[in-house]
Amino acid sequence: MRNLARVPTVEQLSGNPHPHLARLRAESSVAWVPALDAWLVTGRAPAVEVMRDDRRFTVDDPRFSTGRVVGPSMLSLDGADHKRHRAAFASAFRPALTRAQMSERVPEIAVGLVTSMVGIGPVDLRTALAAPLAARSAIAVLGLVDTTPAEVLEWYAAIVAEVTALGSDPGATVDTSLMGGIKEAVRRTVAVAGSPLAGIRDDADLTDHEFTANVAVVLFGALETSEAMITNLMWWVLGDADLGDRLRASPGLRDRAVDESLRLEPGAAIVDRFSVGPTEIGGVGIAAGDKVTVSLSAANRDPAAHRDPDRFSLDRDDEPPHLAFATGPHVCIGAHLARMEARAALDAVLDRPVATCVAEAGFDPPTGLVFRKPARLVVELRASRDSRGGP
Ligand code: HEM
Repeated sequence: MRNLARVPTVEQLSGNPHPHLARLRAESSVAWVPALDAWLVTGRAPAVEVMRDDRRFTVDDPRFSTGRVVGPSMLSLDGADHKRHRAAFASAFRPALTRAQMSERVPEIAVGLVTSMVGIGPVDLRTALAAPLAARSAIAVLGLVDTTPAEVLEWYAAIVAEVTALGSDPGATVDTSLMGGIKEAVRRTVAVAGSPLAGIRDDADLTDHEFTANVAVVLFGALETSEAMITNLMWWVLGDADLGDRLRASPGLRDRAVDESLRLEPGAAIVDRFSVGPTEIGGVGIAAGDKVTVSLSAANRDPAAHRDPDRFSLDRDDEPPHLAFATGPHVCIGAHLARMEARAALDAVLDRPVATCVAEAGFDPPTGLVFRKPARLVVELRASRDSRGGP
């Protein structure tokens, strides 16, 4: 294994990782990082190579503890089994269907949330807009009957805690009762003829247990990722008055802003794979069983693919697409819905007749190793006549 001089620590990767990742990429785009106990892939080309080749780099490994808690699902399988688990869900989330099902509902949720913030003083856009928009959209797209965002967030928190605990003690017994709430919600919803989930259930070649695991992966995959995506977008746009004004005046540029924010700060910064056998990427030898962590954040700022890669630019039509939603067999099935949520949040904030004031404290930059987002993003939305000095 190569010893590199400036291998980043977890602390550096969790704070502002970009200068550290750029330095590492310049030295070797595939490098062993002891703090992660993994090879870290920072170049776009090797990142794409790893994510597209599930015969060499698999997710199917006991060290990936999510599969042990929710059960085998599309997230933890590869090959033919992965296709079987994913097929009916991927089909239900294709762009035209997502648009038909959600194009009114998502903006309605976003506008409702933003409207309730106007004139009430400082609010945190992460907890008051991004998180509830993500949770409500996920519940709506699956049509989960009698299920509240609070319940879903409670299930998610318990499962994340269990996955984390298993990470530090792989021998621990898994508490399968944590899936009880979602199992019941799936049962109630599938029983409703014509519900979106009943349709997916009919199309899916899965046992009840497998089906529930995949619903969990879709539901939980839509929470922290989308929350991070929306909060990061707000951080870029509201933290830069010129950009905000440009997007206010030209709604046609807003989808580009959504994707540029995803490129620069993808809500999920890394994805893990495990090497099936001895192999090589970018000229670096990888042993069988080694963990390979792909830094989507680093790949998205690779100067070989993106001009002036650290700059927020709305003019990148001639560059390759970013990798925030991954690529290859595990490419995110929720990308269309996610983009719809981000756009709806942006429209709801920019198109209100309000002045947006960024708080001096509490407008935090994105942080985090896996899910990167501002801890708080405090702003004040004032009815615009207030901003001109009162009624
Ligand atoms: C509506 C919201 C979302 C839903 C329903 C959703 C659902 C999913 C599902 C089910 C997978 C697993 C696919 C598979 O393994 O075959 C996945 C993968 C992924 N999603 Fe999403 N997702 C959502 C939002 C997001 C957002 C906002 C991001 C990032 C900004 C994101 C990033 C990813 C990535 C990077 C993967 C690949 C994981 C890997 O390759 O290991 N997702 N998503």
